[in-house]
Amino acid sequence: SSTTRRGSDGAVEVGGVDVRRIAEEVGTPAFVLDEDDFRSRARSFRDAFTDAFRPLAGADVYYAGKAFLCGAVARWVQEDGLGLDVCTGGELAVALRAGFPAARIALHGNNKSDAEIRRALEAGVGRIVVDSLDEIGQVDAVAAELGTRAAVMLRVTTGVEAHTHEFIATAHEDQKFGLSLTGGAAFEAVRRVLEAPRLELVGLHSHIGSQIFDVGGFEVAARRVLDLVAQVRTELGHTIDQLDLGGGFGVMYNTQHTPASPEALATGIAGIVEKQCHELDLEVPHVSFEPGRAIAGPSTQTLYTVGTVKDVRLGGPHHRVYVSVDGGMSDNVRTALYDADYSCLLTGRVSDAAPEVVRVVGKHCESGDIVVKDEYLPSDVERGDLISVPVTGAYCYSLASNYNHVPRPPVVAVQGGEIRTLMRRETEEDLLGLDLG
Ligand code: LLP
Repeated sequence: SSTTRRGSDGAVEVGGVDVRRIAEEVGTPAFVLDEDDFRSRARSFRDAFTDAFRPLAGADVYYAGKAFLCGAVARWVQEDGLGLDVCTGGELAVALRAGFPAARIALHGNNKSDAEIRRALEAGVGRIVVDSLDEIGQVDAVAAELGTRAAVMLRVTTGVEAHTHEFIATAHEDQKFGLSLTGGAAFEAVRRVLEAPRLELVGLHSHIGSQIFDVGGFEVAARRVLDLVAQVRTELGHTIDQLDLGGGFGVMYNTQHTPASPEALATGIAGIVEKQCHELDLEVPHVSFEPGRAIAGPSTQTLYTVGTVKDVRLGGPHHRVYVSVDGGMSDNVRTALYDADYSCLLTGRVSDAAPEVVRVVGKHCESGDIVVKDEYLPSDVERGDLISVPVTGAYCYSLASNYNHVPRPPVVAVQGGEIRTLMRRETEEDLLGLDLG
């Protein structure tokens, strides 16, 4: 659904806008978000999951705001009929200021402050996803102080770890999130929530990982969560009628990635949940999902201007061409942090020059400041050229930093030939203003 295409003179157009115009109007680096692409992905996930689960007990889709959130995105997500997953007071503040209906917000986090919980309860969020035994007492106490009740989900650790095409069904549970199923903490948490005077147990939550391409990991995780639902019914006489199976659906960063369609994912998972409930003689619960990357990632490309081009001799016949751009690990840390595999293309013009493999690097004082490890660019790429790195809509702006006192780039939405700034570029004054001398 992307509206990126080459115009007649070779320059790339996105959302009906020539990238050269974007560079002129807002400068580079810049995140260029294709509004129609973002919104059609959001609606596809909503439609696919609500359709697949309609014959069962229904489903909801929450957009995971950690991937990228700003006021405009919160409004789109609201208008397009999704809920919103936030995991800090800051993300909650963005959503509330945008007028996002609190009842459709879920608050996550493994170490929520009393202030964050208070703010969520005062706003009336639909659910707080409780991550530890400690937090049960904490949320109950804050609810008592406010004279209210809190709707909570319990995040359980299923021991499934999914990443790309493989998943591990018995992953090490040595990580900070959730309540262990095998260690008994999850069952104990259910018992305590049911006894807590100010808490209402809405359901169970599980999130198995990121960049997932098939439903195998969800199959194992759902079964483990449903086993707990069955145990709670038998031993505590309580019916848990909602599950959240988290997010994690993958996107195509390179040609080895082959994302399934939202429809294939939704029908696959619906079939699994129905079959397992049948086996366990359980009513099918209402199920929710929290995709972030699969909605935001492909919507955005980062536009950079090329600066220096350096051909480095590596001994013998070997050499490497380093193409430096005007951003880097401060706007996309994922290559340095996760060894992520991005691609890039020359977008301001076409070139007949033979392609050669280059490494695209940033302007930061660190040799790991790599944006794209290896990519073919025309061999005449030179200072002043515009290049784009696609699929940077998720976990790039939201992980951005001011390393080396570099102001963060703007995020602009393009649609129907118009450019609209969603997040303005930071200025040197913004940064100097934090420094009290
Ligand atoms: N729900 C929960 C509870 C999560 O922890 C996450 C992601 C999501 C939903 C959304 O997952 P998605 O659909 O976006 O994969 N910074 C890393 C990703 C961290 C994901 C954290 N949790 C990266 O850039 O790859």
